[in-house]
Amino acid sequence: MILRMTTLMTTSAITTNMTTKNLHQTVDPIGQAILDFAAKKKPFDIIVSSDLCDDDIIPIEVLFRSEDQMPELELVALDLCKGLILDIGAGAGVHSIALQERGLKIKAIDISPGAVAYMRKNNIDAQQIDVYHLEQSASFDTVLSLMNGLGLAKDLENLNFFLEKIYNLLKPGGRFIADSTDVKYLYEENDGSYWMDLNGSYYGDFKFVMKYNKIIGPEFQWLYVDYDTLHKHATACGFKCRRVFNIDENYLAVLEKP
Ligand SMILES: C[S@@+](CC[C@H](N)C(=O)[O-])C[C@H]1O[C@@H](n2cnc3c(N)ncnc32)[C@H](O)[C@@H]1O
Repeated sequence: MILRMTTLMTTSAITTNMTTKNLHQTVDPIGQAILDFAAKKKPFDIIVSSDLCDDDIIPIEVLFRSEDQMPELELVALDLCKGLILDIGAGAGVHSIALQERGLKIKAIDISPGAVAYMRKNNIDAQQIDVYHLEQSASFDTVLSLMNGLGLAKDLENLNFFLEKIYNLLKPGGRFIADSTDVKYLYEENDGSYWMDLNGSYYGDFKFVMKYNKIIGPEFQWLYVDYDTLHKHATACGFKCRRVFNIDENYLAVLEKP
């Protein structure tokens, strides 16, 4: 079975603001959701709210997808991984597990304590750390970031800073493999024109709040970047950038360090 990867802030129609007030605030909704599903195996949803679009829903099973449930884009990404791999924003570690099963050496990181606890229990070499706090030693052959993984760049203004960090983590000849979505379609009007505030921020700059049960995480920024813009920034950072797969507005890019 292939799970449709329409989740996590990719497909909601632009509508009105929504409020997240009056609910109890703690810090690790995704981690708690991962731990609860691992313990009870009962399906539930994680809710992702944005100031720009309707609530999006991540069925928890999506974070536990097996290789045969992954969309083709992710399988292409896995096939392109080589050498020592760093999986950033690894979540429940589905790609790390798949790569380990292929006999590859991986290290996973995630900012979520619950996600990292789960990965460690599953024999993944996982560390709880913000990608921005990683030491800049050029030690990886591949850095992998999937499920709109370029979102870790936060916003367009920060994209070069993020790409430089990744560049510094890679050995010469290493590659950054990541996906994103051109969300321009969210702004399309019935007549085919686009509604955008040209004086506002980049149309792929989003702010989200993640909720699971009564646990509400802090607001976080997530970037959706169109391929041409990524290409321009990646080239400026010294990468050779290629789009290796795309389906609808979702694409996979490989950024090679010379
Ligand atoms: C959409 S989930 C994707 C998980 C996994 N890559 C997958 O495809 O199932 C994004 C993950 O990135 C993690 N994350 C967000 N910001 C991060 C940061 N600054 N450093 C490390 N991990 C981060 C979140 O905790 C979350 O687990």
